[in-house]
Amino acid sequence: MRNIIVSVVALCLLMTGCNSRTPQYRIGVSQCLDDAWRQKMNYEMERELLLHPDMTLSRRIAYGSNELQCAQIDSFIRERVDLLIVSPNEARQVQPAVTRAYRAGIPVIVADRRVPGDEWTAFIGGDNYKVGRLMAQWVIGKAKGERLKAKGKPFMVLEVAGLPGSTPATLRHKGMMDGIEEAKGEGLEAKVEVQSVMGRWYQEDAYEAVSAYLEDHPLPDVIVAHNDLMAIGAAEAVPSIPIMGVDGIHPGLQAIVDGKIECSATYSSRGDMLIDAASRILHKEPYVRDTVLETTLVDLTAAYPMLKQDEAITRDLETLHIVQTQAESKWKQQRFDRLVLILFMVFFFILFLITLGYIFIKQRKIQTEIKHDIIPQLENMQEAIQLSKKDEAFAERLRQVVDDYLTDPHLNVEFLGSKLQLSRTQLFRRVKAVAGKGPLDYIRERRLVRADELLRTTDMTIQQVALELCFSSPGYFTKCYKEYFGHLPSAR
Ligand code: FRU
Repeated sequence: MRNIIVSVVALCLLMTGCNSRTPQYRIGVSQCLDDAWRQKMNYEMERELLLHPDMTLSRRIAYGSNELQCAQIDSFIRERVDLLIVSPNEARQVQPAVTRAYRAGIPVIVADRRVPGDEWTAFIGGDNYKVGRLMAQWVIGKAKGERLKAKGKPFMVLEVAGLPGSTPATLRHKGMMDGIEEAKGEGLEAKVEVQSVMGRWYQEDAYEAVSAYLEDHPLPDVIVAHNDLMAIGAAEAVPSIPIMGVDGIHPGLQAIVDGKIECSATYSSRGDMLIDAASRILHKEPYVRDTVLETTLVDLTAAYPMLKQDEAITRDLETLHIVQTQAESKWKQQRFDRLVLILFMVFFFILFLITLGYIFIKQRKIQTEIKHDIIPQLENMQEAIQLSKKDEAFAERLRQVVDDYLTDPHLNVEFLGSKLQLSRTQLFRRVKAVAGKGPLDYIRERRLVRADELLRTTDMTIQQVALELCFSSPGYFTKCYKEYFGHLPSAR
């Protein structure tokens, strides 16, 4: 029985275990926003995840809210994810949650936007200061050209900044200001003046901020936006002036090709690197703690091929998504089928056990019945047979002894008892049992039968026969004969 149970359990385990994709590590991804750039990053992570089937992602988006992002990180801590990837909204506000996760023993990879301090496991992100320097480089190039046209007039730059507390907004601004400052000492004649409005990273906010600015300011010479979406928003407000954005992915590249904005600076998302680093950290393999990604300027000549490449990647990623969804539904179906199969096996196993139990109980009942009813009955029957055999033998011997002494006047109960070696009581009981009458009656019966035989086969008279068979008188013989045979005796 134990062997059967062990085999069934082993079979179930084998069936549930084989070909199952049960990721070992769960990675929490905390995204501050959900724009095109972040969607690209998400796609890159998912694509890379195909190479790491032992990991699974759980993504939460804070939609620009520091509070929500902190709460989401805290929930990841409570759920004890194996690793956390965080792209913080505003550095200072989100840092405490990042620290909490790190101190709770969860490895933390900070993505794209740095947080103060060094309580994190790894950082992978672009060089925002260098992005700012690229913006300055473009502004200076423009200012140098303008200088020839209008001497003395300040060259007006309108900066459309990202969310103020976020690292890229701070560093891009600083990079740009430092770049412009340095250029002044290096022969930039025009007075470059920078004014900022806040676009908070959103296209609509940028459109509104630039439109509001233009209500009480003259047209700037150029607009520099901290990302392409805000550059597009600014272009919607002022279609006629040169605009630079940042990111250099699909919406921005398309805007350059369409002539809406002039250029952009690349800002890599590299979700693939994040997943690779996560895998290395989880598998305790060597990894780079601080990875800073390169940035370059994208103008119209570079934008078109990049756009085509970007579109191809997007198509790839979309196909990947479809395949993943299909695979997921197949795995779900497979898991469901396996569950049904296991339930069936368990059901039949229980049924088998019940049947086995029923048969076992029935067997026991039959055995008890045989032991208590059938066997005693058989024994009784055997005993009865033995007894009747004994009786037959006794009846035979009784008849023989009686028949041998029918003519002997000594044949009486005592004589018979001594011949058969039985006491008076035993003799009575046994003769009664086999003959249905007492010993005297039996002797008389045997004498009457012999008398009848003699009367029929010899020439003896009634008197002679009565005397021969020891009846006290012929009258008594006649009486007994009539009683036994129902008619009077007659000689031949
Ligand atoms: C998207 C984004 C990008 C920008 C990056 C900086 O959320 O605003 O456009 O380059 O974040 O973290």
